[in-house]
Amino acid sequence: MIADAFLWVLNRTPSLRRAMWRTFFDFLASRFGDISWWTLMNYGYADLQVGVPPLELLPADEAERYPIALYHHVATLAPVAGHDVLEVGSGRGGGASYVARYLKPARLVGIDLSVKAVAFSNRQYRLDSLHFQEGDAESLPFSDASFDSVINVESSFCYPSIGRFFAEVKRVLRPGGHFHYTDLRLTHEIADWHTAIAESGLEAIIEHDITANVVEALHRDSARRRAGGRRIVSRPFSAIADVFTGVEGTRIPSLLASGEMVYYSFLLRKPSGATG
Ligand SMILES: C[S@@+](CC[C@H](N)C(=O)[O-])C[C@H]1O[C@@H](n2cnc3c(N)ncnc32)[C@H](O)[C@@H]1O
Repeated sequence: MIADAFLWVLNRTPSLRRAMWRTFFDFLASRFGDISWWTLMNYGYADLQVGVPPLELLPADEAERYPIALYHHVATLAPVAGHDVLEVGSGRGGGASYVARYLKPARLVGIDLSVKAVAFSNRQYRLDSLHFQEGDAESLPFSDASFDSVINVESSFCYPSIGRFFAEVKRVLRPGGHFHYTDLRLTHEIADWHTAIAESGLEAIIEHDITANVVEALHRDSARRRAGGRRIVSRPFSAIADVFTGVEGTRIPSLLASGEMVYYSFLLRKPSGATG
């Protein structure tokens, strides 16, 4: 009840919403800044098609297979090899690192609102083609038409104005450039989400409902998520870690499994003739 009232205030106070998420992710990055085995913060993706070989990963990447697979799913909706790529909401940098190392863009810049998550990412990854910097999704610190592709994974639910974010994505993309986008929403929020996408001026090329893939990933990954939470916080706080990391039986997996929440992926494109 108190949590619901808090969220009601948060949803109606954009500056408070931004500050709250910045404080939360800054806290995580400073409290857990030396934990190199935890590099992704999304709910993951599991391929449900029978007979599809598993994603080939280096042994060092195996532990975070499902969160990496979500990046693989969304980043391969269109080619990124040789592209200038921007990731918005790069978190602890593990997804950007996967894309940079396996999918070979010419350059990948990850930006995040949390200065401390950016510092962690720059400490953790040393690749010439990969760099992280502070930035706000609604005011991207780049000139017009400076990227071929933009990636955004499980971050836009934090933004006070999704319309301003889409306008910024369109502005920094080159004409014909792609927006690889995935996130979750409560069922009653889907109509507004689709309206914002339709009004963005970006063309919708692909839309997938990947809720079942995310539910299955959370199921397969639950023991690792529970154990990871216990490695970084002790009782009684481990129950909070379970909620945050999406251990089976907690709020987010339950909402996704019951259909009260959905997880979608999209490929959008800036029209070839577009200027703004
Ligand atoms: C759930 S985490 C996902 C991180 C990463 N995409 C991943 O999958 O591991 C959401 C991230 O969005 C970032 N974020 C929230 N609001 C933001 C904003 N307005 N601009 C840029 N990043 C933001 C947070 O700091 C956090 O790192």
